[in-house]
Amino acid sequence: MAKLAGKVAIVTGGAKGIGRHYSQALAAEGARVMIADIADGKPLAEQIAGKHGANSVAHVQFDVSNEDQVKAVVAETIERFEQIDVLVNNAAVYATLTPRKFIDWDAETWDRVMAVNTRGPFLMVKHVAPHMMQRRTGKIINIASGAAYKGVPRMLPYVTSKGAVLAFTRALSRELGEYGIAVNSLSPGYILSDTGLANTAHVEDERIPVRNSRAFKRDAYPEDLLGALIFLASSDSDFVTGQSLVVDGGSVNN
Ligand SMILES: NC(=O)c1ccc[n+]([C@@H]2O[C@H](COP(=O)([O-])OP(=O)(O)OC[C@H]3O[C@@H](n4cnc5c(N)ncnc54)[C@H](O)[C@@H]3O)[C@@H](O)[C@H]2O)c1
Repeated sequence: MAKLAGKVAIVTGGAKGIGRHYSQALAAEGARVMIADIADGKPLAEQIAGKHGANSVAHVQFDVSNEDQVKAVVAETIERFEQIDVLVNNAAVYATLTPRKFIDWDAETWDRVMAVNTRGPFLMVKHVAPHMMQRRTGKIINIASGAAYKGVPRMLPYVTSKGAVLAFTRALSRELGEYGIAVNSLSPGYILSDTGLANTAHVEDERIPVRNSRAFKRDAYPEDLLGALIFLASSDSDFVTGQSLVVDGGSVNN
């Protein structure tokens, strides 16, 4: 039986890059999926609907850093699917950033990265968790990054934001435990997603050195993350909370 039959998941940033694979994998496990992205999720939603049925998916365009838009997405998800069981906080400013020395980042970019990568997950939780608390069940999965453990250079605002996601996960798990809600983070290593590959600066900086740093000396793809995602979203992980699962082929020693 599918592991997420009868469940409803929201995937922020679920239309493109790695998030696209998360949306597909959750639907394949029987979840109904709300694809919430600043990018257009319609083509992916059509693809998922074609495979899993019209009621398996919906999509909405929004900016995760905007509280009114977050509220609207949560309301629309409940109206359409009646409940929310899984929240995947995946949206982030990442692939579009060009690595540079710490001194060359401007304050506006710093603020935007923080707004999307840290205020975004906070706003999602602020508006999704009350609904989960009422039902005394839920799985919150915050996408962090191996970069926060390693202190990857030349991506300072991004790496700092992902360090915040790790701390956010730990603290939040303490507050939501009494409601039976699990809060974990999934920390991917460097992944060759389509959006990541489109930014040649990331590929040049990271691909070979990261591969050499791994116990498993190969490139990683979005598919490598899906087992961990489904584990954290499903009842297989019911006694796991406040943790960060690093999926990077053994680059970080956690
Ligand atoms: N690719 C990697 O190597 C890697 C490694 C570790 C962690 N991650 C994390 O995995 C997640 C996905 O990464 P990706 O490689 O697909 O990169 P990406 O930059 O392509 O993905 C970000 C997604 O978020 C969406 N998004 C951006 N700003 C938004 C906003 N304001 N509101 C709503 N949606 C917004 C984008 O449209 C996109 O779908 C991110 O959280 C990233 O930090 C990626």
